[in-house]
Amino acid sequence: MQRRRRCVGGVSGQLVWLLLVWSWRMVGAQQAPKTDPIEVAALNTILHRWGLKASSQWNISGEPCSGFASDGTDWDHYRDINPFIKCVCSYDNSTTCHITRLRVRQLNVIGPIPSELQNLTYLVDLYVSNYYLR
Ligand SMILES: *[C@@H]1O[C@H](CO)[C@@H](O)[C@H](O)[C@H]1NC(C)=O
Ligand SMILES: *[C@@H]1O[C@H](CO)[C@@H](O)[C@H](O)[C@H]1NC(C)=O
Ligand SMILES: *[C@@H]1O[C@H](CO)[C@@H](O)[C@H](O)[C@H]1NC(C)=O
Repeated sequence: MQRRRRCVGGVSGQLVWLLLVWSWRMVGAQQAPKTDPIEVAALNTILHRWGLKASSQWNISGEPCSGFASDGTDWDHYRDINPFIKCVCSYDNSTTCHITRLRVRQLNVIGPIPSELQNLTYLVDLYVSNYYLR
């Protein structure tokens, strides 16, 4: 009797383990796409150099292509978010996001144009107003 119970426990333990692995894989399959790490580093450096920070409406949990940045709408819908980026997240079978647009408005940015901009290789739209070259 004792032995049999232990055996049943082993089987259900295995089943729980299988379920765990299976659900973990399901979650993995549905995971949100990730921003190209080179672009994450470049963007963080560029905005840091300019003394700017992402608003809480994007860069959620350190992922710049999240929230309003990756919702597929035009950035004109969010005129008040500043600075702001837009991403396209359909790369690599919708697992990778690339930053396609960067907008910095009326923030009196001062300094040289950061060389890291060249790492945003998918950028098609750069909008910076009130930029003072130094
Ligand atoms: C985005 O969030 C991460 C983690 O909170 C932070 O290190 C990074 O500087 C943020 N980037 C910007 C552009 O604010
Ligand atoms: C792309 O994703 C679909 C759906 O998740 C999958 O069936 C397909 O095999 C994937 N293709 C590649 C090349 O990874
Ligand atoms: C980003 O750009 C800088 C300046 O051009 C370069 O030195 C650096 O290696 C690049 N970073 C990555 C991760 O490619």
